[in-house]
This record gives sequence, C-alpha cells and structure tokens, in this order.
Amino acid sequence: MSEPFLAADGVTVRFGGLTAVDSVSVVADRGETVGIIGPNGAGKTTLFGALCGSVPAEGTVRVEGQDAGTWAPHRRARAGLTRTFQQRELFGSLTVRDNLLFATEAAALGQRPMRLARRHAYRQPDKADATIELLGLQGCAGMLAGSLPGGLARLVEIGRALCTDPALVLLDEPSSGLDNDETAQLVDRLRAAAAACGCGLLLVEHDMSVVNALCERLYVLDFGSCIASGPTAEVLASAEVREAYLGDLGAA
Ligand SMILES: Nc1ncnc2c1ncn2[C@@H]1O[C@H](COP(=O)(O)OP(=O)(O)O)[C@@H](O)[C@H]1O
Ligand SMILES: [Mg+2]
Repeated sequence: MSEPFLAADGVTVRFGGLTAVDSVSVVADRGETVGIIGPNGAGKTTLFGALCGSVPAEGTVRVEGQDAGTWAPHRRARAGLTRTFQQRELFGSLTVRDNLLFATEAAALGQRPMRLARRHAYRQPDKADATIELLGLQGCAGMLAGSLPGGLARLVEIGRALCTDPALVLLDEPSSGLDNDETAQLVDRLRAAAAACGCGLLLVEHDMSVVNALCERLYVLDFGSCIASGPTAEVLASAEVREAYLGDLGAA
C-alpha cells in the first residue's frame, strides 16, 4: 500500500522553554479534507510551519514517501505541499489574474530554475483562467488584488495555491475575518476546487460550520499535544474535546 502524500510523525517544536508542538503525528492525502482544530495558542500555525519546513522541528516529515525533514520550504512546495497564510500575502498592486499568472510562472520556474531569463514563457494563462472560473472570480479578474473585500481576497489566495498544481494545500484559518455569506461561499468554492483539482486540503479552522461542512477527519491540538483524532462527528462528540475546545467557544 502506498504512503499518504504527507506523513508526519512525532513532530516537536520548541521555542526556548516552551514546547509549542509536542510529538504530533499527522497524515493527509490527495482527495481528502482534514481539519486541525484547537484553542488559540495550541500550536496549529507552528505545526503548519514545521510541516512546510519554515519552522525547525524534531520528528519526521515524509512527502510522497520520501524523508523531507531536511527539505527547504520551496522544495516541499515543488513536491506539491502548498500553504496559505493567516495574514494576507497577495500582491496588492497586481490584478487578480496577474496574481494567478505569477503563481503559474513561479511554479513552472521552480521545476526549471535555470530558465529565469525567459520567465514569462512559463506563465500558463489557461491554468490561471480555469482557476478564475473554478473559484467564481470572473467578475474581479481585472481588479487590483489590494482593492478586494476579504472574502474575494481569500479566494484569490486559494487560487494562487491551486495554480501551483498542489497535491495538498494547507490553509490556516481560511474563514477568519469573513462574514457569514463570505464563509458559506468559501465552503462551496473550496469543495468544488478540491474536487476539480484532486488535491487534498489540510485546514486549521475555528468556525465549526466550516469544519463540519468540509472535513472528513480531524486532529485536535491542545497545549501543543494532539488530544484526539478521527472522523469529524466522533471527535466533535468526545467529552475531552468539548471540554478543551468546544465548551469554551460555546459551539455545538
Ligand atoms: N516564533 C515564536 N517564538 C516564540 N513563541 C512562539 C513563536 N510562534 C509561536 N509561539 C508560541 O507557540 C504557541 C503556539 O502558537 P501558534 O502555533 O501560533 O498557535 P495557534 O496557531 O494554535 O493559535 C503559542 O504559545 C505562541 O505564543
Ligand atoms: Mg494560528
């Protein structure tokens, strides 16, 4: 049986005396949507950093069956492990379409780094336009990314990740700052995009409506440790999880 695309085992991150992530193991594969939930400060963003290689960590991270523990973030991204950030990271003075074109160019150049001089040749307009359609961004494709309201800007970030042909996209709180309508739209678009691309999604999310609508499985972090994992309904019904997290949110 082949290994899942991402298989991390015993991931531990220390900041001085603080163990922000404590021996956490995570697997995620193409075609599935997996959630990571937990209170603020539980270590979710730090875990993403460790998986992507931007935060030094102990433990093992395997990507497509290979030991990726020493790989720099760009090498993990080239292998298909792509992330979006909690803070917006768009090029605000470029149009939406140019943001996506740039992503196709960067991804293609990443496979052929010696071709920098002819970099525009690596732009893939078809892929950018297909992504615009997939995410329903046709109406704002020519607008500056910096001028977009939060919900659309979030979709453009996701579009940029999709333009790199990812196997697994890590999304850090994609619904943060969005209103109810924008969140419902995000859920629909994410579901459609993941189905069309065949990629997996690993998402850190606070909004239980998003978690329930999208995630098949969950991991729950609390004080850096994974206190529960399994199918979404089972995990959310667990007394320990409700006490650690859901109780303090007043969520169902
Ligand atoms: N660069 C850093 N240096 C020191 N402590 C950090 C750093 N990044 C995060 N932390 C701490 O690690 C813990 C986990 O943070 P974080 O991963 O951001 O949590 P979450 O994303 O679950 O809210 C917190 O106590 C936070 O203050
Ligand atoms: Mg965070």
